[in-house]
Amino acid sequence: MAKLKTAVLISGRGSNLQALIDYCQSENSRAQISLVISNVKGAAGLEKATEAGIISEVIEHNLFKNRNSFENALTETLDGYGIEFICLAGFMRILTDAFVKRWHNKIINIHPSLLPSFKGLKTHERALQEGVKFTGCTVHFVREEMDTGPIIVQAAVPILSDDDPKSLEHRVLLAEHRCYPLALNLIAENRVTIINEKVSIPNSKAPGVFFSNPIE
Ligand code: GAR
Repeated sequence: MAKLKTAVLISGRGSNLQALIDYCQSENSRAQISLVISNVKGAAGLEKATEAGIISEVIEHNLFKNRNSFENALTETLDGYGIEFICLAGFMRILTDAFVKRWHNKIINIHPSLLPSFKGLKTHERALQEGVKFTGCTVHFVREEMDTGPIIVQAAVPILSDDDPKSLEHRVLLAEHRCYPLALNLIAENRVTIINEKVSIPNSKAPGVFFSNPIE
């Protein structure tokens, strides 16, 4: 069966890109990473694509006169490679309604918090400031409003008393690297449906008990 032709859009380090590449290299994967696009020249993630033998393109947003012309270039490139699906992985550009509509239900994002809490930037700093005992990460379909859209996978990460933003980022990233391939594969296997803007995944397993932080 043909694999879902996926592009990953990045702006930086590309650790989630690497997790997606690693997963898609396994035989069981129903998705393949066919293209990586960075809006930042020299982004570290580009090397990860090269090492994996994946085509990459740099489309620098600041060389375009406005968001629309930048996004038209993105879509032209994506269409040129026959891309069917997009994963945003640390892609730090706000997308216009037109782009999001063009890729409706064909574009997902990973965010370093348990949405709808802590949308936007500096999620770990804000979680620590609020004193919440759990944070985590979310993979969701992209909708017009930033950091909204039907949620596909979330992972909870406990916040420890001696955490700082760096230590928390590190543990949340480990969770991200598990969640993103899982979400992409569920979609590629056609197991995800959206009903009333909520994701339903029949026959999926879920943790059966609650857990507290701290524990006894
Ligand atoms: C990840 O933590 C991702 O969740 C976050 O940027 C980081 C990218 O790291 N994305 C956002 O904050 C989007 N709002 P990576 O380049 O190593 O994958």
